[in-house]
Amino acid sequence: MLFAASSNRWLRIAGFLLYFRSGVQTRVLTQHCVEETCEVQSRFRSGDEMPKTRATKRGPKEPKDRVRVLITARRIRERILALAKQIRKDFPGEKLHLVSVLKGGVFFLTDLARHIPGEVSFDFIAVASYGQNTHSSGQVRLTRDLDSSIEGRTVIVVEDILDTGMTLQYLLRLFQQRKPKHLRVAVLLDKPERRIAAVHADYVGFTIPNEFVVGYGLDYSERYRNLPYVGVLQLGSGAKVENE
Ligand code: IMP
Ligand code: MG
Repeated sequence: MLFAASSNRWLRIAGFLLYFRSGVQTRVLTQHCVEETCEVQSRFRSGDEMPKTRATKRGPKEPKDRVRVLITARRIRERILALAKQIRKDFPGEKLHLVSVLKGGVFFLTDLARHIPGEVSFDFIAVASYGQNTHSSGQVRLTRDLDSSIEGRTVIVVEDILDTGMTLQYLLRLFQQRKPKHLRVAVLLDKPERRIAAVHADYVGFTIPNEFVVGYGLDYSERYRNLPYVGVLQLGSGAKVENE
């Protein structure tokens, strides 16, 4: 009887200790996750330099990639507003058909479309570059065509960035064959130093120096597209970022 009572007491103590230990672990984990989320959210809200992610206890410290802000979200917004006004002024009363190149041009297209008054429709196309040193080899191919015909329509090609110009040259040739009424080009960014093809954009958001940029749709291996600003990517390894 006495033995049963004391073993019961020991069982209760052991149970309490186990419960207490798992509770502490749960609290530590929850706090950790909340802090991670805040870090990501504040990074996205501020438009400032991306903070270093905390090193985990498990792996050795690896130098993190950083993004130096080049064009803030606010400047992008203001510039797109002005471009939208200009486009409508150039084509008063016309139905405008915006054609964006997946995936980089998507944010630019949606923001531009929202600020152009009057009738606007849009469509998407996707291209891929292949081979080594793809952009200078000029080998661009279509991976997704438009849903509808552009014949007789006022078409504005909406691209994230005009770099070597090979992609745009390919697209303009393709679209010209389809006999649009007007064909114009709007790019958020223009990097004239790297131009190979003789193409130009009718509407340019910002002219930038020859640096690899990410954010606002632009990626590096599919990362960083969701940053609300445009920034220069600096790899943690210190290596120079090459165009993919
Ligand atoms: P282009 O054919 O050389 O003009 O390159 C156009 C495409 O290359 C863009 O639509 C982007 O997808 C990609 N690109 C060129 N420069 C950059 C950059 O600085 N950051 C991210 N992507 C870029
Ligand atoms: Mg890209």
